[in-house]
Amino acid sequence: MKQNFIAAFAIASISAVGVATLMACTQNDTGASSINASASPRLSQLPVPAGTAENPITTEKVALGKQLFFDKRMSGTGEMSCESCHYRHLGWADGNKLSKKSDGSINVRHTPTMYNVGYLKSWYWDGRAATLEGNVGAAWKGQIGGDPVKVSAVLAAIPGYATQFQSVFGAPPNPDNVAKAIATYLHTIISGDSPWDRHEKGDTKAVSADAKEGFELFIGKGRCVICHTPGVYSNSEFYNIGLEANKEKKDLGRFNVSKKVEDTSAFKVPTLRSIGISNPYFHDGSVASLEEAVKYMANGGNDDPNKSPLLVKTNMTDGEIKKVVAFLQTLTSDEKFERPVLPK
Ligand code: HEC
Ligand code: HEC
Repeated sequence: MKQNFIAAFAIASISAVGVATLMACTQNDTGASSINASASPRLSQLPVPAGTAENPITTEKVALGKQLFFDKRMSGTGEMSCESCHYRHLGWADGNKLSKKSDGSINVRHTPTMYNVGYLKSWYWDGRAATLEGNVGAAWKGQIGGDPVKVSAVLAAIPGYATQFQSVFGAPPNPDNVAKAIATYLHTIISGDSPWDRHEKGDTKAVSADAKEGFELFIGKGRCVICHTPGVYSNSEFYNIGLEANKEKKDLGRFNVSKKVEDTSAFKVPTLRSIGISNPYFHDGSVASLEEAVKYMANGGNDDPNKSPLLVKTNMTDGEIKKVVAFLQTLTSDEKFERPVLPK
């Protein structure tokens, strides 16, 4: 049976510059498929972060949030900060399959990157946080074991923080404004100026021929762009890609939030920016190398009754998979980064 489907994508980042994208895919009985690549999004420029109406971005607030993100005094024990699992040099992740929380328990899901989180529509692998501020508050308690009320008092007693909170919020530190400050900082953690972006802007020496071919495969034969839409290379949606298929105790993923059967073991599409440095991969951290991860996707994933019909076996050759990897490696940005000086 011939199946035709049209998928329309409102890409936050691209619609911001006024380009609406409509992509047509056809799938035939052999599972092979073609995508009208010429209609696919090609430009991946990210908009300047604006924050939200409730929590607008200001330079001072970002600087304050940055200090808090790196400050171990944010935790109950003084031993952990947000950085303890989100390291800049590891693509704002931690290099572990699964990592240990402050209470000694092991996270059930792999640490995701902080790059481009400001552009997402919901947070966590299952999207259970509707706001970034909500996510920050939950991580503060759950990951680093901070008691927001007690820690706010600790921060209020540090003169360097007291002055900054007064100036930014007109109030002493409290659970709400601490989360707000960190959230604005997160909006500014952007992977956006990579060799691939320079190539798109016309720098003819920015990337290799393999990377260029890899991009054509990414938006064409590989069908990756259906879910990994530029500029973030994520459409912020949830799909089951078969990773829980052979597990005894399954992580139900998005189902826990939506209660829809089709969301069983569905997880958020991650950004692919700076993907070359944030290994291991997937919500369970089960795949160590980028090449293996791309191969898994290109082969259509493990069989699962709830697997997304959008993920199919693409019949890409090993050589083609290497080219897609070469393209993905060009998405690593080399933006400037300096650690904050923490107030006394
Ligand atoms: C012990 C490791 C650890 C620490 C420390 C940690 N995180 Fe995380 N972070 C995780 C894990 C694991 C997830 C994914 C959890 C899930 O999806 O269920 C996550 C997810 C997130 C997300 C969602 C990203 C997305 O793509 O949706 C944000 C934002 C975040 N953390 C911010 C923070 C902040 C802010 C702090 C400090 C208050 C912090 N994290 C401390 C491990 C950690
Ligand atoms: C149907 C939507 C869909 C398609 C098509 C798709 N992906 Fe994904 N991709 C996802 C989702 C969802 C995840 C995360 C799933 C999880 O961890 O359970 C993911 C994860 C990844 C990861 C790991 C990212 C990380 O941070 O852990 C890579 C790499 C990746 N995809 C590359 C590709 C490539 C290359 C293609 C094309 C060959 C592709 N994807 C096609 C939805 C898709």
